[in-house]
Amino acid sequence: MANDEIAKLTEDIVICEACHLKDSRTQVVPGLYGPKNGLCIIGEAPGYHEDKQGIPFVGRSGKLLDNMLSGIGLERKKDLSILNVIKCRPTTADNNNRTPTNSELKFCGERWLFKQLKLLSPKLIVTIGSIPLRFFIPSAAVTKYVGKSYDTDFGIKLFVTYHPAYILRNYNLMDVYNEHFEGIKNLYLDLLNQNEIISEKKKSVKGQGEQKSLTDFM
Ligand code: URA
Repeated sequence: MANDEIAKLTEDIVICEACHLKDSRTQVVPGLYGPKNGLCIIGEAPGYHEDKQGIPFVGRSGKLLDNMLSGIGLERKKDLSILNVIKCRPTTADNNNRTPTNSELKFCGERWLFKQLKLLSPKLIVTIGSIPLRFFIPSAAVTKYVGKSYDTDFGIKLFVTYHPAYILRNYNLMDVYNEHFEGIKNLYLDLLNQNEIISEKKKSVKGQGEQKSLTDFM
């Protein structure tokens, strides 16, 4: 994304040493930026592979996420942003991945993620898994919120789905996961429609067999 403000913010993110997670990381994983006023997927934190490569969701979970997105005609970076609440890999004493604490979430999320969202100004945020949901709606239990959308205090619609790692461990939920992504596509199209950017184009492709990329409608 050619945008000076987001480039400048990212320069600041990648040199951040504001908390103890600087000690366990190989590098900061700032995220991937897609179009402004679009869709933004939000995970929890980089794991082992993301920390090594500096890119979000590159392990097995990332592969499943990419497949789910391609099933609804979307491609990371080209069509949407992928960010984590936390930019550096949290580790255990024996160097395994660990779940971030609430204070790590709040500290990093308020310091960087909110600024990224302000600049990207997405129409729709999709939280994947319980951790990013907890960051946005602290009282929410993923089991109650999953598969639905909510209005947030900061004016961006939020859709809640499972983390792909959870689906890899619970493959019986694959049909439900597909339904969630269908729901994400429909909600996103509706939100774009509300902007009256795409309504005529959308009507004209309805019923055509071939799958369209959502960006065809933008
Ligand atoms: N899980 C996440 O939540 N984020 C990543 O980047 C990778 C795995």
